[in-house]
Amino acid sequence: MNILAEKRIVLGVTGGIAVYKAVEIVSRLVKAEADVRVLMTEAAQKFVSPLTFGAMSGHQPITDLWQLYEGERIGHVTLAHEADLFIIAPLTAHTMARLAQGMANDPITATALSTRAPLLLAPAMESNMWMHPATQANLKTLIERGAKIVGPESGRLASGASGVGRMVEPAIIVEHARIILGKTRGPLSGLRLTITAGGTREWVDPVRFMGNRASGKMGVALARVARDLGAEVNLVYGAMTVDPPIGVNQIHAERAEDMLREVLRLLPETDVLISAAAIADFRPAITHRQKLKKGGNEEIRLERTPDVLKAVSEKRKEINMPKLVVGFAAETTELIANAQAKMRKKELDMIVVNDVTAPDAGFGVDTNRVTIITRDGAVAPLPLMSKEDVAYNILHRIRGLLGTPSIGWDPGMGSVLS
Ligand code: CTP
Repeated sequence: MNILAEKRIVLGVTGGIAVYKAVEIVSRLVKAEADVRVLMTEAAQKFVSPLTFGAMSGHQPITDLWQLYEGERIGHVTLAHEADLFIIAPLTAHTMARLAQGMANDPITATALSTRAPLLLAPAMESNMWMHPATQANLKTLIERGAKIVGPESGRLASGASGVGRMVEPAIIVEHARIILGKTRGPLSGLRLTITAGGTREWVDPVRFMGNRASGKMGVALARVARDLGAEVNLVYGAMTVDPPIGVNQIHAERAEDMLREVLRLLPETDVLISAAAIADFRPAITHRQKLKKGGNEEIRLERTPDVLKAVSEKRKEINMPKLVVGFAAETTELIANAQAKMRKKELDMIVVNDVTAPDAGFGVDTNRVTIITRDGAVAPLPLMSKEDVAYNILHRIRGLLGTPSIGWDPGMGSVLS
């Protein structure tokens, strides 16, 4: 699943030391199969040659207002009309001022003025320039007009001094590109999802806990893909080996009880709940305030934790939300029968089952091999695929169950389901 595939992304590059990082933005976008076109100011060309951007994007950059585009039309006008997204990175204080003024005397400002595509800006400049009231006023103007600004960050600047002014990393800019495209083009826009991810921890004493092998990768993939498809996402996460994605509402919940509280709190504003977290079934009956010592009472008595999905099914009867509840089943034997029993017991609309004994699926790895079972009795085994593609297939099926037409849903984006 890839929201960037075949999207026309126009990247404006203005003159600052961070121009070299713009090459990485192009490289990341091209890898994600976007169709990237570069515009450069004269100052930008002092830092990196247009040749580099041309080689990376596969298209000659536009460096002159009067340059014809692929030998035919006026470059900036054509690109302005065809763009799905217009990124300017790095954005200097000077170009920022000209954007705010609505000037159009170079390819970048002229394109910004004539495009209706969303604008993503990554400023980079010296701290004093950034903090100057003139720049701050321009920033305010651009935000009010709907531009998305990322950064700048604090850190070491070209002058050798430290302060705010560094362009954010290319990976973050590309994440924001995905978020913006999802919001404007995504087939899940308007849908509110709550996803749980990772593993819970139940404390024995101040230094020891009972945890599990969950990495959070499946839940994070679901959150990221749902976000890219335009959904509003709450990610309730426990212990994970990966970072929660930007652009989602991140809520940390450590114990089963914390997860229960947060999920129930979010339920009235949740259209779809996906419980991908490995939630503990047991916890120590007593959490000791001091570290347990050898030679004392060495037994740990366990008690049951609350079952989050069971509590959700009770609450759902009362408030009629969420519209759909999806569970996961981590099984080692009789996968389908056990998952079907779990779906009935927890009153789920869908359950995603995986064999956690398989080395290439389940805990910790980047791939998964799952079967999607729905309440209507359909059993759909999927082949081994990346967790992001599994997420895409789950969300595709959810969209089908909700019964809304799949406007903008491109079946070629990775789905193997009809
Ligand atoms: N789950 C939950 N609350 C718990 C334990 C699990 O809501 N206390 C959810 C999980 O997030 C998952 C589903 O229930 O979506 C099934 O989890 P799983 O661990 O496979 O099943 P259990 O209910 O724990 O049953 P068992 O351990 O007996 O297989």
